[in-house]
Amino acid sequence: MRKSDFLVIGSGIAGLSFALKVASKGRVILVTKKQDTESNTNYAQGGIAVVLGGEDSFEQHISDTLQTGAGLSRRSAVELMVREGPNRINELVALGVEFSYKYSDGKRVLALGREGGHTRSRIVHRADHTGSEVEKSLIKRCQEHPNIEIEEHSAAVDLLIDPKERPGRCRGATILTPSRELEMIFAPVTFLATGGSGEVYLHTTNPPIATGDGIAIAWRAGARVANLEFMQFHPTAFYQSGLGGGTSFLISEAVRGFGGVLRRRDGTAFMSQYHSMLDLAPRDTVARAIDKEMKASGDDYVYLDVTARPPDEVRERFPSIYKRCLQNGIDITTGWIPVVPAAHYMCGGVVTDLHGRTSIPGLYAAGEVACSGVHGANRLASNSLLEAVVFSHRAAEIAMNKQIKFSDFSKFEDRLPQNVTHASEEELVLISHDRFQIRKLMWDYVGIVRSTLRLERARRRVELIREEIEDLASRSRLTEGVIELRNIALVASLIIRMALHRKESRGLHFTTDYPEMLEKARDTVMRKRV
Ligand code: FAD
Ligand code: SIN
Repeated sequence: MRKSDFLVIGSGIAGLSFALKVASKGRVILVTKKQDTESNTNYAQGGIAVVLGGEDSFEQHISDTLQTGAGLSRRSAVELMVREGPNRINELVALGVEFSYKYSDGKRVLALGREGGHTRSRIVHRADHTGSEVEKSLIKRCQEHPNIEIEEHSAAVDLLIDPKERPGRCRGATILTPSRELEMIFAPVTFLATGGSGEVYLHTTNPPIATGDGIAIAWRAGARVANLEFMQFHPTAFYQSGLGGGTSFLISEAVRGFGGVLRRRDGTAFMSQYHSMLDLAPRDTVARAIDKEMKASGDDYVYLDVTARPPDEVRERFPSIYKRCLQNGIDITTGWIPVVPAAHYMCGGVVTDLHGRTSIPGLYAAGEVACSGVHGANRLASNSLLEAVVFSHRAAEIAMNKQIKFSDFSKFEDRLPQNVTHASEEELVLISHDRFQIRKLMWDYVGIVRSTLRLERARRRVELIREEIEDLASRSRLTEGVIELRNIALVASLIIRMALHRKESRGLHFTTDYPEMLEKARDTVMRKRV
């Protein structure tokens, strides 16, 4: 058992930027379940949406975000994010993040890209690997800070909720340490920054760490969770043959912002049939269009064609995508890229207010795990890194100005599970089998186009697997595999419940049984009774 002033769970942009801010006020323990760089942040390509003047305006970015959010975004959250954006980007630059620049009228200015749903070019980026540049700089700063301790290969299992208080206050979390022991870390402030849930689906752009842990952890503790039916499918992941699933390499939307065109196998461009913004329509529209085209043609993918642009410019703007496609036998300056949609971003999450406070006192959240209200029913491209950095800052401002004090933690002493039995070899094999089953079920039945019949079928099957996993987790020693599977199953089950609850089609949630959008937009908010 240990104590800290702040406990941060996750080492992506949200966790690292929060840690850097609060470290001026106290000691920070930051736990992360793999090596420190492993996060969705590290793989971000397109960049960070921000208004930097010129032809752009705050009003225009706010309007584009609300338009994409399909009536469900919270205006106050969107306004804050957009207006505070430039300051946060300047801070990232001051921390050492090197974005791409260009010369305009002899002046060196940040280069701005264009992505779907944006009516202006406003994406600051570092070529096509913005995320690794941000991640690298933030980790370096955290490692240098004397008040921050980064603990790798340490997975948060559950929150420590004070049973003596009403409502129960979060006092820290139980952690599975690198030596596979359970340890309690107590802190008056716990910051949840565990990122996304793409791994709940068979095909995803997310790395395998994205198992929805934070949502599951917060749910079990009784936090309010919302809008999980809005899983965003990115339209253009590199097609990989076979049924195995896994992480699909992303072909950034910035490629379409650069002039890339989606084509059928016979070469016809098809987006004019779906949206006036053509290939730069919002993501839900483009993903559904590709889904429809694939179903109509029976093809396994469509093509993305950027060959009309000068090869040197393509190579300079997209060095990682160029290299990765070349490794797969495609020179994108002369050939078309086979692309398919893949699960990419969870728009819903743990409900927070405008300062990252969840419904559980002492527990804060920001980044992809949180539902701040910005994204509504569909996220505008490159708004998530911005949202993460803005709301982590706001949470830090509040959290570090609270008086830091410890209460009596002795009542938690006996609360660690006393399970000592190891799962059998056979059970361990079944764990990976169950993980695959759930991800495939979600892909087949809870994907881009849904129906009540499919959702009900998925619900029954996922619940069955979930009961078995809960049983295993309650009687055997926890391993990372069991923890992740339990969380994937819970998040899958919550996505299905929320999707069944929404009797309309809005943004990313499209169901053939309720194809229209209701007049009044409502969040789907649920919590576990504890
Ligand atoms: P993450 O960066 O995912 O970090 C989560 C951290 O929590 C990780 O360190 C993880 O290991 C850790 N963790 C998880 N569970 C536990 C646990 N139980 N215990 C301890 N640690 C845990 N957004 C944009 O705005 N612009 C883009 O260009 C862009 N491109 C993208 C490209 C790809 C391929 C992907 C996958 C996403 C992209 N996104 C983009 C989305 C964006 O990257 C993410 O939404 C954002 O990085 C999330 O940041 P985060 O800090 O919330 O979570
Ligand atoms: C991309 O580069 O297409 C990803 C941008 C995002 O997810 O915001």
